Amino acid sequence: VTIRRATIDDIICMQNANLHNLPENYMLKYYMYHVLSWPEASFVATTTDVNEPGLEDLTLEDGAGKQIKLNSNYVAPGEKLVGYVLTKMNDDPDQQNEAPNGHITSLSVMRTYRRMGIAEKLMRQALFALREVYQADYVSLHVRQSNRAALHLYRDTLEFEVLTVEKSYYQDGEDAYAMKKVLKLDE
Ligand code: ACO
Repeated sequence: VTIRRATIDDIICMQNANLHNLPENYMLKYYMYHVLSWPEASFVATTTDVNEPGLEDLTLEDGAGKQIKLNSNYVAPGEKLVGYVLTKMNDDPDQQNEAPNGHITSLSVMRTYRRMGIAEKLMRQALFALREVYQADYVSLHVRQSNRAALHLYRDTLEFEVLTVEKSYYQDGEDAYAMKKVLKLDE
């Protein structure tokens, strides 16, 4: 498995992986906005071992009710996406007085590739780039209270702190932990 910077050619696969792995989904143009605005801040994990199982195709229904099968885990011939992290700098015009800060919009790893350290590597690359390239002083994210795996990763492995609980942050009413990590010079 290789970790490399995400490019515009990866975004359909990133969106697909997101649809597989998470209930929070975004329009393709939002992925594009991330990758075009902060081209060094998002990363993908890929494998050239295309015989590996576990990367199911995605079936979608088109406007006429017809099922279409998308095999869009291929970012290039012979290269399949197994994980991604989509990040941005905070560009909210209402928060212009804040120190520059980054945001983790979405992170996921395909099921058969979990517990191999891929998410940790993706996150460390992204945190490094947000600090070094975009001068982020800190990074924030939201995570579901019930998401034990992600919570462990952020709080225990990556040492994010829980700032607050945001009530009914998610569409289904679940609360979110708002988390933050200050980016130190020696990391
Ligand atoms: N249970 C408990 N802790 C876990 C688990 C788990 N199932 N999975 C990962 N962790 C924690 C551990 O602390 C682990 O360290 P350890 O293996 O040394 O104990 C650490 O995370 C690093 O694990 P990785 O192997 O790097 O994590 P992985 O590649 O498996 O990916 C992820 C973790 C991204 C949460 C994965 O489970 C996933 O894709 N889940 C579905 C999507 C998701 O929940 N994404 C995060 C949403 S929040 C957001 O996007 C901002």
